[in-house]
Formats: sequence, C-alpha cells, structure tokens
Amino acid sequence: MKRSFKGIFGKAQEKPLYEPPRDIRSLDECNFYHTTDIPGVGTAEGQWDLRDGVDEYLGGFDFTGKRVLEIGPATGFLTFEMEKTAREVVAVELPMDRNFWNAVPYESLGLARGKNQGWTDVEKQFHEHIDRMRNGFWFCHKHFNSSARVYHGSAEELPESLGEFDVVLLASILLHSRSPVAILESCARLVSGSVIITELFHPHLGEGPVCSLVPTADNRAWDTWWGFTPRFFTQFLEVLGFTEHRVSFHKQLADNDPLDMFSVVSSRPENE
Ligand SMILES: C[S@@+](CC[C@H](N)C(=O)[O-])C[C@H]1O[C@@H](n2cnc3c(N)ncnc32)[C@H](O)[C@@H]1O
Repeated sequence: MKRSFKGIFGKAQEKPLYEPPRDIRSLDECNFYHTTDIPGVGTAEGQWDLRDGVDEYLGGFDFTGKRVLEIGPATGFLTFEMEKTAREVVAVELPMDRNFWNAVPYESLGLARGKNQGWTDVEKQFHEHIDRMRNGFWFCHKHFNSSARVYHGSAEELPESLGEFDVVLLASILLHSRSPVAILESCARLVSGSVIITELFHPHLGEGPVCSLVPTADNRAWDTWWGFTPRFFTQFLEVLGFTEHRVSFHKQLADNDPLDMFSVVSSRPENE
C-alpha cells in the first residue's frame, strides 16, 4: 500500500504506507521510555516500569488472534507484549517533522510562534529525545524479532488503507493530544471490536464526564493537555457505538513512584 509524496524533483512518488525499520545497532543511540528486558541484550532502564502490571495496564484484554492498532508505542514494550498472542500489531506514531508532538502553544516558550519561524530550544531538545526513543523502538523491534509495522501520521486522520482492526490501544497518549475526541473518532472508524484506553487517574475530578485542561500560564506543562475521568471516555465511546464497558484501576511505576491509573475497555455490542 502506498501514499503519494513529492520526491526530490517535485514529482509525485509513491511512499510506502509503513515506515522502513531503522537499523539501530547500539544502545548508545537510544533512549527508553519503558524499562525493557531485551532478549540477548539485558535490561534497558526507562522512565516507566510496566513489567509487573502490564496485564492491568492493558485492561486485562485477551489479544489472542486479534489485529491490533496501537497509537503511540514509544519504545514498544506494549507492542512486543501484545505481539506474543496477537495476530498483528500496527503502531501509529507522529512523523519526525515539525509536527512530531502536539505541543501546547506557550507564548512564553516561543511555542506560539508560527511554524515557519524556526525551531524553539524546547522543540529541538525534545525532538532529539523523541528521535532517540524511536531508535529504542527499532532496536527492540530487531531483538524481539518483531513483525509489528509502524505508520507515521496523525492519529486524528488515520487512512482507511490501514484496514480493519479488532481492537485499538490508546495508552497514555490522549493526555498529550490536542484533540482526544478527534483521535477516538478516527480510531473508531477502523475498529470493529474494542477500544482500550489507559490514563492517569485524578480522583479530584469526580465521576462525571470531565476532560480537564492541565496547562496554566505558570506550570508550563507544554507537553501535556488533559486529565480525564473514566466517564469522559465511556460516555463518548457510547456515542461512537461502543456500549459495553469495563473500567479498572491500578498502580504503575514511573520513576519508581506508584501512580494511580485507570483502564477502560469499551466494546461494540457482543464483541467482548
Ligand atoms: C507517553 S507515551 C506512551 C507510550 C505507551 N503507549 C505507553 O502507554 O506506555 C506517548 C506516545 O504517544 C506518541 N504520541 C503522542 N501524541 C501522538 C499523536 N497525536 N498521534 C500519535 N502518537 C502520538 C508519542 O510519540 C509516544 O510514543
């Protein structure tokens, strides 16, 4: 499957739907989001250690034989875990161009400037970090002997050419996205079965369908947009036709601190 893009001479050429793997040979080229026991290599330390809580983090879902769409794999710990039983995993990441992150447009950090005004220091540093994380993904991909494929594009506009999926995983990604509902709508179009969402739990938000804005002028939270309640997702997913829900709560380790999280598994009728 191909997409059209302009080649060096401006002629339309066919771009493959999936990214070519990066050939990463050394851990020195990588950063890790997840602590990962890499076959034949050893343990790479990351910010998040999901090793003991991965089943809960994935909503207790049985991926056996499923075609899985994963939005935002970072260094792929969940990709390779799901692949142990899934039929196929297709991961979606943002392209490594100027749109590599949905940065909150802080004037005070230069992020409210037009995209044609050059990269800000914040963007340059974070881009380098994300690029090294992509290396981490491909390093693991090779050592796990993975056949997961990666599509680069906005999760808000997923192309139909990706095909139909049984389930989509959106774990710790919607908090970083300008428009979480646009992403859910786009994913729902491709998913015949279930949606799994895992996010930080904020008990102070109560039980209603709340999506609460994180950035303030003072906190400079430029990489994170939202905190959610589970009800926010179950209510909107019902609108999209996913009417059966399971909500669970768990703790996961980030920088050695146990953080409160929740997972929502919402399915179309008679799909789970
Ligand atoms: C916080 S990490 C979560 C990694 C993994 N899903 C997990 O839960 O452990 C967020 C990931 O989502 C990706 N991401 C952020 N915004 C995105 C968007 N709008 N579309 C696709 N991927 C996105 C990031 O590049 C990164 O890989």
